[in-house]
Amino acid sequence: MDLGLSRTAKRLTRDGDDVWAVSFRADEIEQNGGQGLRLCVGDPDFATPDAIHAAVSDSLKRGRTHYSSAQGELELRKSIAELENKTSRHSCDPEQVVVFPGATNALFAVLSCLLDTEDELVVPEPMYAGYSGIFNTVGCQVIHAPLDTANNFSLDIEKTKAAVSDKTRAVLVNTPGNPAGNMASGEQLEALAAFCLDRGIWLICDEVYSMLTFDQPHVSIRRAAQSPDNIISINSLSKSHAMSGWRLGWVIVPAGLAPSMHNFNGGTLYGCPQFIQDAAACALRHDGDHVADMRDQYRLRRDYVVERISGIPELQCQPPTGGMFVMADVSSTGLNGRQFALQLLEEQRVSLVPGDGFGGSTENFVRITLAQPVEVLSEAFDRIETFLQHRHLS
Ligand SMILES: Cc1ncc(COP(=O)(O)O)c(C=O)c1O
Repeated sequence: MDLGLSRTAKRLTRDGDDVWAVSFRADEIEQNGGQGLRLCVGDPDFATPDAIHAAVSDSLKRGRTHYSSAQGELELRKSIAELENKTSRHSCDPEQVVVFPGATNALFAVLSCLLDTEDELVVPEPMYAGYSGIFNTVGCQVIHAPLDTANNFSLDIEKTKAAVSDKTRAVLVNTPGNPAGNMASGEQLEALAAFCLDRGIWLICDEVYSMLTFDQPHVSIRRAAQSPDNIISINSLSKSHAMSGWRLGWVIVPAGLAPSMHNFNGGTLYGCPQFIQDAAACALRHDGDHVADMRDQYRLRRDYVVERISGIPELQCQPPTGGMFVMADVSSTGLNGRQFALQLLEEQRVSLVPGDGFGGSTENFVRITLAQPVEVLSEAFDRIETFLQHRHLS
């Protein structure tokens, strides 16, 4: 008997998208006893720092296991505002911060509060694959603006502006970006923020990789924008503090929007766990050298991957300046990204993500994670070389 599903549930079935097909095939191979090298995930391979474990144990011992404020614990919101006030040109009050279980949920809340199903959201492409599920749940109309692929995937302000129409309610940018590790400059963000303000639309910036930059510091949207009135920033501890499974993120919004975000949290979650929020406040205030150490490791891995790619004539890449991934162009192999990733997995047991999962403009790319130690990356590149040699011979 078919009792029916909502339009939301039906939209979600579009998420099948094949993005993770190679990763699922790698699971299957492993379940049948084949050991593979996984270079597809964006989940930090580092353990969450000990001080954060100690903070969560202490909080649990103190009985911090009850309902929390739907806006987020004040101490955590203060620590987020303190961090923000170190870099932003606009002062942030803890009342402007609302806590969510991860950036994913924070973005869902933001879009739910800003857009109805007929409204348009402009998003540069290639984009983080996980956005599709959020957009489909909200049901808004997504309009893509291409990144400048030839120029290390930099934000193309003119093309982004051109994608804005009378139906646009918001533009969403991601810097440093997934999948390409591109970083928007302060001037670009300032110009885009001024344009959005002038058009009376929101500018949302996903900054989950803000602490993982390799060559120059991250410029936040709240630092770049002249006016904070239409600016929303989203961040989380998943990447910077190797806390993906703790599910802790937040938004910083203009004061007038905070009550809606708070209500959304209250209506859908009723707050995040107190003990996780206590540990998060500790992570932000006392992270010692952990964040910097992890960033240094990611930088070493970035350099290693870029160097190995430069030694393989059939692969090309532009070094990412932040984030956790390298995009390699495989078009010289005669294969597109999906064919390359599937054949590499079957022949050499190395899994990568095909670029078409992030948008049509990267169909000839594969995404390589930096969330693996150099030894694993080294073995994976040896296998990639063997794979390419076999193709020459056959
Ligand atoms: C650009 C981007 N935004 C958001 C997320 C999700 O972050 P969170 O774990 O905080 O939900 C990811 C995870 O890979 C990401 O790459």
